[in-house]
Amino acid sequence: MTENFADNYANNFERTPGGAILMDGNRLRDEIVAQLNTEISGGLDVCLATVLVGDDKPSRIYVNNKHRKATEAGMVSRHVELGADATQAEVEAAVSDLAADPGVHGILVQLPLPDGLDADAVLEHLPPEKDVDGLTQRSMGALVRGQQGHVPCTPLGVMRLLERYDVATSGKKAVVIGRSTLVGLPQVLLLGRKGVDATPTLAHSRTDDLASVCREADIVVAAAGMAGLVTADFVKPGAAVLDVGISRSESGIVGDVDFDSVESVAGAVTPMPGGTGRMTIACLLQNTLAASRMLAAK
Ligand code: GUN
Repeated sequence: MTENFADNYANNFERTPGGAILMDGNRLRDEIVAQLNTEISGGLDVCLATVLVGDDKPSRIYVNNKHRKATEAGMVSRHVELGADATQAEVEAAVSDLAADPGVHGILVQLPLPDGLDADAVLEHLPPEKDVDGLTQRSMGALVRGQQGHVPCTPLGVMRLLERYDVATSGKKAVVIGRSTLVGLPQVLLLGRKGVDATPTLAHSRTDDLASVCREADIVVAAAGMAGLVTADFVKPGAAVLDVGISRSESGIVGDVDFDSVESVAGAVTPMPGGTGRMTIACLLQNTLAASRMLAAK
């Protein structure tokens, strides 16, 4: 890490053996959940509902974690589960029921849905206020237009980590690797927003000389789903590197960032696990509290 860059940081953050600031998603999530609990236990009624279709084990674990953290935040949570053989009409009806239920404030449909189901058609049953994942056309359109609406939780979580760990964004070059609707596309919009003022580049698996494109960047967000893609030669000394990738391997879940090689070059880095994934849940819960306020104001 260059001395110059180190000067930009407060010195009281935990660091990796190589000297990078560890952008700790567990810690920031816990701070956010505690803050939500303070706000909600003042007498608010906030309910998150999840919909799980099929029997994908990791999806079940993610959904269980969301319920656990919702409870810790002082929310009520509900769960609707349908079998892997559920029809499109059954899934859409389940979502419509929750959409119409005044006791439910936020709805999360866990993705991916089993093969043969049209997730976009299911999501369009969500009213914008309850779309706490920010994935419907209305929410995405609002994000593009800079209008009020829920922002997708994973890219929002990346922004919260940058903020919490004092990573400068204004005028800085950022590279987002991966162009998914869930992460890459909204991430570029958030980094380029007024007030954030980074200059984002959207890179992907077909980008020529991806390593040198990334090496120009002050911030790299890796969301390609390619295990260990980002190695030290992708990283400008002192840059912030955030790992959003998830690949399933024999040794468990692995990210897009080769943490051990990157941490001695980067100025700040997220661990995997314990980084951006934790923030997805924290932001989901923040969006759910915001949803209950939007609905109350209607
Ligand atoms: N599956 C993996 N990540 C997500 C997410 O952020 N939201 C939903 N709904 N499903 C997911």
